[in-house]
Amino acid sequence: MKLLAINGSPRKTMNTASLLEKIVDGAASRGAEVQLTHLRDLTFKGCISCFHCKDPKSESYGRCIVKDDLGPVLQEAHEADVLVLGSPFYFSMETSLARACMERLWFQYHLYTKRKPPLSPRKKATALVYTMNIRLEDMEAYGKNAVVTRSKGLMERFFAPCEVFLCCDTKQVKDYSKYEFDVFDVPGKLKRHEEIFPKELERAFDLGIRLVS
Ligand SMILES: Cc1cc2nc3c(=O)[nH]c(=O)nc-3n(C[C@H](O)[C@H](O)[C@H](O)COP(=O)(O)O)c2cc1C
Repeated sequence: MKLLAINGSPRKTMNTASLLEKIVDGAASRGAEVQLTHLRDLTFKGCISCFHCKDPKSESYGRCIVKDDLGPVLQEAHEADVLVLGSPFYFSMETSLARACMERLWFQYHLYTKRKPPLSPRKKATALVYTMNIRLEDMEAYGKNAVVTRSKGLMERFFAPCEVFLCCDTKQVKDYSKYEFDVFDVPGKLKRHEEIFPKELERAFDLGIRLVS
């Protein structure tokens, strides 16, 4: 059993990464082979629409042929039994790192025919992990639920049921006193980070166990 977690945050030690680390730890505690990949470390671009993955006569049918650092990650994602993608919300969307990865991951499997199912290995447990500044109850107003629903739907089209893990009202910076931050209830955020975030890390650990069980 192999679990691959992909971090779409450019930060390798903050909210999204911490949750993904716990998911990975949870999976490893059940004997799964685990890997956490930080997209920030890689040099890659999004889909270039070359259509090599759509040519039924080509060896690359259903596979992205772009040669950059994401290629091996797409191969690992193809082989993994469990795939977890994490991203903060940036202007109410996934980060550009995460989006570029999603484009390449999904488009290689996507077909423009109704006669065939997608070219993905469909049996794969998946999860999407989102972190964000705003509170859960504000997600709808900021259009975030639609983004989550769309990406979850695509994960389910290409793989299998996708679990969504939301972590809201995150602590964005280590020292709020250095910046102008009056649109948020900073003491409330710090309190939440002390009291609630550790529980969310536990919830992430449990998700890791569940995904490989
Ligand atoms: C460029 C940028 C845009 C952001 N846009 C949003 C946003 O639209 N909504 C939101 O709730 N948080 C937004 N945030 C805050 C992050 O989503 C939040 O701090 C997240 O937990 C950061 O994840 P990380 O700690 O893993 O990097 C933004 C942060 C940055 C840097």
